[in-house]
Amino acid sequence: MKWTDQETSLPLGKQEGFELFHHEYDSAIQKVNTKIEILANDFEVRNDYSPIHHIVKRLKTAESIQEKLERLGCEVSIPSARENIKDIAGLRVVCNFIEDVYQVADMLTDQDDIELITCKDYIKNPKPNGYRSLHLGLSVPVFLIDRKIVVPVELQIRTVAMDFWASLEHQLRYKQNNEGRISEKTNIELKACAEVSAKLDMQMQKIFDEVKK
Ligand code: GTP
Ligand code: MG
Repeated sequence: MKWTDQETSLPLGKQEGFELFHHEYDSAIQKVNTKIEILANDFEVRNDYSPIHHIVKRLKTAESIQEKLERLGCEVSIPSARENIKDIAGLRVVCNFIEDVYQVADMLTDQDDIELITCKDYIKNPKPNGYRSLHLGLSVPVFLIDRKIVVPVELQIRTVAMDFWASLEHQLRYKQNNEGRISEKTNIELKACAEVSAKLDMQMQKIFDEVKK
């Protein structure tokens, strides 16, 4: 038996170097989180208002990375995970108003050490089920003790209303036992709720704009 075969047949979390590999993504999460906190504080100090309601950080577990590699039909190895999975490091920024979502996205992507790799705007173009959010694929440099690495980070930016809908939809999907599929009736009802929540976001933005004047 060849060594390489034996190595790649090990679960990802048990493969040599996994801990260091995982740590790179954890460091990138910390870095982006600090950047967002600095922006929120700066806003607060200058304007007595922060566009950021809260931040959620998520580091994909070894099991979840492995599950995604298998689902994509990719080899289960560290180089393959590096190449194929771009959402190992994830952050979700929940904002108050729609305008805040784009403001936070601009403020971050304008920083000269951040590179914008992908942008999926599910606010302007919601998913067929009604899901709305702005998804940015970023890459950020991280300085380790002996080298600089560039790490991909997935950032989801959404309003409180979008977050409310997405978390309930997620819960419902996993509460139904047929492999996360939602019945047609529930789908239609959820989509209607998404439309109400989009309208609410627009009304709240309008009220906020008037108050600001
Ligand atoms: P993944 O394999 O899940 O990463 O999908 P993808 O790479 O095609 O990216 P996509 O932008 O579609 O979604 C990435 C993430 O956004 C998901 O892991 C969820 O956190 C969130 N998301 C996307 N679509 C939905 C949805 O319909 N409902 C909810 N609740 N969350 C969603
Ligand atoms: Mg993803």
